[in-house]
Amino acid sequence: MKTRITELFGIEHPIIQGGMHYVGFAELASAVSNAGGLGIITGLTQRTPELLANEIARCREMTSKPFGVNLSFLPAVNPPDYAGYIRAIIDGGVKVVETAGNNPQKWLPMMKDAGIKVIHKCTSVRHALKAESIGCDAISVDGFECGGHPGEDDVPNFILLPRAAEELKIPFVASGGMADGRSLVAALALGADGMNMGTRFMATVEAPIHDNVKQAIVQASELDTRIVMRPLRNTERVFANAATEEVLRKERELGSRIRFEDIAPELAGAYPRIMQQGDMQSGVWSCGMVVGLIHDVPTVQQLIDRIMGEAHALIDQRLAGISAA
Ligand SMILES: Cc1cc2nc3c(=O)[nH]c(=O)nc-3n(C[C@H](O)[C@H](O)[C@H](O)COP(=O)(O)O)c2cc1C
Repeated sequence: MKTRITELFGIEHPIIQGGMHYVGFAELASAVSNAGGLGIITGLTQRTPELLANEIARCREMTSKPFGVNLSFLPAVNPPDYAGYIRAIIDGGVKVVETAGNNPQKWLPMMKDAGIKVIHKCTSVRHALKAESIGCDAISVDGFECGGHPGEDDVPNFILLPRAAEELKIPFVASGGMADGRSLVAALALGADGMNMGTRFMATVEAPIHDNVKQAIVQASELDTRIVMRPLRNTERVFANAATEEVLRKERELGSRIRFEDIAPELAGAYPRIMQQGDMQSGVWSCGMVVGLIHDVPTVQQLIDRIMGEAHALIDQRLAGISAA
């Protein structure tokens, strides 16, 4: 399948694996790229630029296909060494960066001078237009359904994607709620040039996370996510568990007086505990509503082949048949 996104990134299928903290290691990124999509290493999961350089080198040993690195620009008292991370990306020969969080403008010249294509993840049309105006090459449009940070506007993809299509000139992918061939065809129909998946890629054989997480995803329904941290204007969609309920209880009790420190016990260090040790109630972790559409743990190759098979069948048979009738 050929779209502006497959052309831009030199990939076979218009499917991207979004950066995921403590999930997006070389094993998953290389599996997605080997299957014809675009795999992405999560930059900040690597604690230093040197460790990111090692992870990029590991990924390169596992695939000869293009892959990217995610860099999330989050407000922080002591910001990470972004210049060092970008240097590691450039020196590692990586040609795609998925940026997220704050406006990446400050870092664009360094990346563009190195011939890197930048896809910025946004949750609103106005942020997408801003990213287009500062020179980003593509957008990942993240609807309210998404796992992780959906922003504060709460616009789901059935509205957000066609709105993005009305306004943007550069290509964009649909992100949030994407799971299968139906998602891909719907995303294309709504004006996107492909799709980005997070939660769906966690339930794959190659995702280097504890099996408890994969089983929890398979067993969960679309009712099993919660929205936390809205009072802190750092809204996040997460898996419903004991830690999530505790955060929500504190939010109700403290109201507008809540501070990040009040919920730090449920958040700090949660990712290694959940993703590596499989201690499922011990902290808050991002998860999309799409969890209700995930019923198995295939290999990445099986998943991507199945998605593309479904998408072609939908377009060539179901939709062509309806259209011709
Ligand atoms: C466990 C998990 C961790 C994530 N970590 C990050 C991250 O570190 N940086 C980032 O930009 N996005 C992160 N995301 C968001 C994904 O890249 C992607 O945008 C999102 O999962 C799409 O929604 P979906 O889960 O419905 O597919 C994370 C998502 C999940 C599920």
